[in-house]
Amino acid sequence: MRSGLPSGTSLLVSFARGLGVDKEPIDPVAPQLLPPVLAQLAAAPRHLGGVAALYRAAVRATTFGLIDHMVLRTQAIDAHLASALRSGIDQLVILGAGLDARGWRLAALKDVTVFEVDHPATQRYKRKRMSQQRPPADIRYVSIDFETERFADALESAGFRSGAPSAWIWEGVAMYLPLDAVHDALAQLTSLAAPGSELAMTYRMPGLLPYGPLGRVAIPVVFAAAGEPLKATLRPHELASAVAPDWDVTFDEDSRGWRKLAGSTANASRSFLSERLAIVKRRY
Ligand SMILES: C[S@@+](CC[C@H](N)C(=O)[O-])C[C@H]1O[C@@H](n2cnc3c(N)ncnc32)[C@H](O)[C@@H]1O
Repeated sequence: MRSGLPSGTSLLVSFARGLGVDKEPIDPVAPQLLPPVLAQLAAAPRHLGGVAALYRAAVRATTFGLIDHMVLRTQAIDAHLASALRSGIDQLVILGAGLDARGWRLAALKDVTVFEVDHPATQRYKRKRMSQQRPPADIRYVSIDFETERFADALESAGFRSGAPSAWIWEGVAMYLPLDAVHDALAQLTSLAAPGSELAMTYRMPGLLPYGPLGRVAIPVVFAAAGEPLKATLRPHELASAVAPDWDVTFDEDSRGWRKLAGSTANASRSFLSERLAIVKRRY
């Protein structure tokens, strides 16, 4: 993270959701969260009439599938969240929330307490941008650095009930943390989550960066230069053992499997198959 600045990758993901792949973007709140230039680029299709689809297609193409990938990821997690909420869960923790706008855009969260846990710099920026917007959900903020601080006590102080089941989302974050911090966060989560709780998290597999030798060198350099170097990688069996014996893995697939969950029109880009979405459920 660059000192004092909001996470650049959180802006990128919010931009993708704000632009979307269809006429209706999946995140109408994104333009309020983004800095002015990105907000205008994301909202441009609303003012472009007949050429809106062409503009959106051109932007999607220039990101080599990244926009589709991020839209599909969020839609898959939204679909999972909807089913977790139907089971009666009424508290949601979003770890590394960034500019995630679920607390504002999902009506199903109106009776849910949403805890947003994030790095102080990103959270400060978001709270400032959203100070005038009343969310339907009861949003509580917890500001921590996963690399140096624990979130368990802070969550309980913010009103999290460890005796009741909870939903957890950790979307596009674990790959920016050292592996120790990922394991530590999973251990804290296990100490807080009652039986029946569900976690949806994405993680990065080792060795699958796109674009051959050039991509293997250039992609990590680009992320590092942006202040968010790629760090932890896991293989599916390592993730399963990291959460065992307390959690069962109920889903663990790369983006080709997310469309089933999401019912989405976004494309599963072949370039980003290194990221997987795992859904794990706390055993009774
Ligand atoms: C790619 S963004 C994803 C944001 C959000 N989950 C989403 O999907 O829109 C990565 C997020 O991880 C957070 N993050 C990265 N390193 C962190 C750390 N050491 N402690 C706390 N948060 C961190 C950033 O602040 C940012 O919000």
